[in-house]
Amino acid sequence: MLSHTNVILYINIIMNSTQYTDAEIAPLASLDEWEDDLILRYPDPDSLAQAKAKEEFRNYDDPARDTVKEFYRLNHKYQTYDFVMEKRQDFLKFNKKEMTLWDSFEFLNTLVDDSDPDIALDQLQHLLQTSEAIRADGHPDWFVLTGLLHDMGKVLCLFGEPQWAVVGDTFPVGCQHSDKIVYPEFFAANPDSTDERFNTKYGVYEPNCGLRNVHMSWGHDEYLYQMTKNYLPESALYMIRYHSFYAQHRENAYTHLMDEHDHEYFKWVKVFNPYDLYTKSPKVPDWNELRPYYEDLAAKYLPSTLKF
Ligand SMILES: [Fe+2]
Ligand SMILES: [Fe+2]
Repeated sequence: MLSHTNVILYINIIMNSTQYTDAEIAPLASLDEWEDDLILRYPDPDSLAQAKAKEEFRNYDDPARDTVKEFYRLNHKYQTYDFVMEKRQDFLKFNKKEMTLWDSFEFLNTLVDDSDPDIALDQLQHLLQTSEAIRADGHPDWFVLTGLLHDMGKVLCLFGEPQWAVVGDTFPVGCQHSDKIVYPEFFAANPDSTDERFNTKYGVYEPNCGLRNVHMSWGHDEYLYQMTKNYLPESALYMIRYHSFYAQHRENAYTHLMDEHDHEYFKWVKVFNPYDLYTKSPKVPDWNELRPYYEDLAAKYLPSTLKF
């Protein structure tokens, strides 16, 4: 028999699949295509990696680049202020599932990757590579835990959410879209860009009102922030909440909405970003060996189960 939670889950999947076509729900062969494209856009300052990325960047015939472009077209078209409100209303009830952290990782890993299985790392491996690199550099334990958790919100895909409502660069909704956001031309199809409530520099916000008062496009960052906000230090929460906000942490396009508090904590967002982008390696961390360390670490900060 289906549990209450599973019924809600299936209803969500059915509702989403009737609203969007399959091609609109999953323009990418895998979620990793977005992150792989980020590395091309923001290459590792390490010169060797940069040379390699530039070489790949020149390859405009790469079919993955077309799917990423289509992914952003859909993201920019559909991520409106009202869409974000609707998703917050639904997902911030956290009534879909309750799992231990370890079950959450297993659940996340059921996200099937359609790209080349020989080179694709599963979600947990990316999380562990990120957290292990942070640990190796001697950062505080809550920072290591943040590395381990930061993409947990991608479980949204498993609740039937379209890829462009789970991953992708995030940006404020309710005010003008910056031309520093990747593929800004696609915002022409977003109804907010012709809505006078939302299409001015400040839109529904006040100058330097602080990002806590600004709604971001919906995705895995905001979802996990809301899930963990009572358990982790402020620096960790900034890293989780804004790690995909490239238009700010790389391009400084929304400084006019930030306050002093944001500026102080964005330093951590910037420190975190290279660990997210540049620690992917074919070397697979040994989860069984690492698990006792991470179990103790998680128990120090998090409750025994997480509500999704
Ligand atoms: Fe992420
Ligand atoms: Fe990540």
